[in-house]
Amino acid sequence: MKLFIDSANLNDIELSLKRGLVKGVTTNPSILAKEPKGDFILHMKKIVGLLREYNTLVPLSIEVFSTKKEEMVRQAETFLKELNYEKLNIKIPIGWDELEVIHSLRRRGIEVNCTCCMSYNQAMMAANAGANFVSLFYGRIRDVGYNAYQVVEETAKTLKTAGSPSEIIVGSIRHIHDINDAMKAGAHIVTVPPQFFPQMVKHPKTDEAVKQFVTDFENWMK
Ligand code: E4P
Repeated sequence: MKLFIDSANLNDIELSLKRGLVKGVTTNPSILAKEPKGDFILHMKKIVGLLREYNTLVPLSIEVFSTKKEEMVRQAETFLKELNYEKLNIKIPIGWDELEVIHSLRRRGIEVNCTCCMSYNQAMMAANAGANFVSLFYGRIRDVGYNAYQVVEETAKTLKTAGSPSEIIVGSIRHIHDINDAMKAGAHIVTVPPQFFPQMVKHPKTDEAVKQFVTDFENWMK
């Protein structure tokens, strides 16, 4: 089970790189929009620069920001050309027209993360179109009353049984329980908003134990 960072923030990405946490980076237009306004490609080049600086050549997802087939392909080609990053994958939302884009990019050997998947059947269609990654939105699935754990679990089981190379990325994380549950449900990858990383290692009993050990040893050494 791998953790990706769900952010375009250079500082957050670097903090995670320093801890060896980053096995991938996912972005989307809304995540990008949280960063200071500027040149989109230049910002993504800075992320690639960080990955190279830390010798961590991991998957980096960049999402198209059009709903027109021809424009999606043009944007994908631009991202690939401008970034020249060997582990770049293009995020294409699930949809009937989008499946044609996904399949055409895959036929050209371009890696694709099929995103905005909210159901088992969407995930199955994405995998059958050849998507390398299928992104299930845990929080948004639950927002409309569906059992997100069950969607992930059933998708993971079917992909495994079918011997599919597609990997599930669970995103749309709202709480660290979502991360834990997605892992238990069988997700290959959980992409984590960076604010959750410190929470995932924090525990009051750990703090208590460490404080006690240091205090006891200091007293013994007096
Ligand atoms: C993955 O990168 C998804 O785009 C992201 O996790 C979606 O999160 P949201 O549902 O909070 O927008």
